Parts: sequence; C-alpha cells; structure tokens
Amino acid sequence: MYDKETLEVVIPKERIAHRVEEIAAEVEVWRRGDPLVAICVLKGAFIFFSDLVRQLSQPLFVEFLRCSSYGDCTETSGQVRLTLELEADLSGKRVLVVEDIVDTGLSMQAILAYLTRKNPKDLALCALIDKSHRRQVQVPIDFAGFEMPKGFLVGYGLDYAQRYRELPDVCVLHLE
Ligand code: PRP
Repeated sequence: MYDKETLEVVIPKERIAHRVEEIAAEVEVWRRGDPLVAICVLKGAFIFFSDLVRQLSQPLFVEFLRCSSYGDCTETSGQVRLTLELEADLSGKRVLVVEDIVDTGLSMQAILAYLTRKNPKDLALCALIDKSHRRQVQVPIDFAGFEMPKGFLVGYGLDYAQRYRELPDVCVLHLE
C-alpha cells in the first residue's frame, strides 16, 4: 500500500482507534453532560475529528475553522492565516478545539486567541499529536493523543503538500 522507501508507519490505525476511544472518555468526564461545541481545525484534523465526534454523546454541535501556515513546505512559514471563520456564537458555550498536530504551537496560539475573543464558557484543546520538543510558544493541550519525536508526519489527515492525508496510519515521511 505504501511506498516503503519514503513512508514508515509510526502509529498504526488500531492504536489510533484505541486512543481516540480513550480521549473521548476523557472529554466526556470534562464536559460533565454539558452541550458541547466541537471545532474541527481544517484541513489536517478532519479524519481525527470525524472519528472523535462519533464517540461523543449528545448534545453536540460541530463547527469548522480553517487555518494554514505550512503551505507546501515542511517548515512553518510563521504566518498563520485563518481562511475560514466560525459562524457559530460561542458566547457562554463549552468548546472543544480539535487539532491534528501541535508542532511549533504558532497555529494553535492564533486559534486560541481568536476563539477566546468569542467568550466561551470553557475552552479546551484536543490534539492527536504533540511534538512538544518543537514548541516555539507555550500552548496548553488538555487532551493529547500521542507525543511524537522527530520526523515529518503524514497520514490520518496530515499532509505533505496536500498529499497522504487519506492514509489510515500516521507515518513518517522520509524525504529522499
Ligand atoms: C498544520 C496542522 C496544524 C499546524 C501545526 O496545519 O494541521 O494546524 O500545522 O503546526 P504549528 O504548531 O507549527 O503551527 P497546516 O498549516 O499544514 O494546514 P493543514 O491543516 O491544512 O494541513
């Protein structure tokens, strides 16, 4: 299925599925039965978000936010652009932001600042992958899936130049 010379599976889909179940259980404890607004940060989080929300109970509202800073590169441009804004009113709501990966933290810093201005009652961050050693700004991750070391990751929503998002496993892309 994969080109073995360039892709190495580092988190198989079975491990991801198990961890998603565990995260969903943690989120349920945190929300204490409140209505929840779950926000998917496009594009990277779309698969993780789809799996996670299907493990959560009602009442649940899904929203989408688009953020981009890497373009077709393996390093962040440092310029975080929100290209799709929220339509929902978050005032007084319990909100969960769902992200695929927190690397430098620059994207999530901008997103959390944007969402905080909308006055939610509570705002928590869920990220499937945490690359804490790469952090340039501090970002509090309330629900983290996997701490990952070096390597450029693709699959399960993550891309390199818009490719590989559809892979069921998280892989390291070895650029030859
Ligand atoms: C990726 C990823 C996060 C961000 C994390 O988005 O989805 O949003 O980078 O990196 P950071 O912590 O260094 O800011 P990208 O800009 O590649 O857009 P995408 O989600 O459409 O792939």
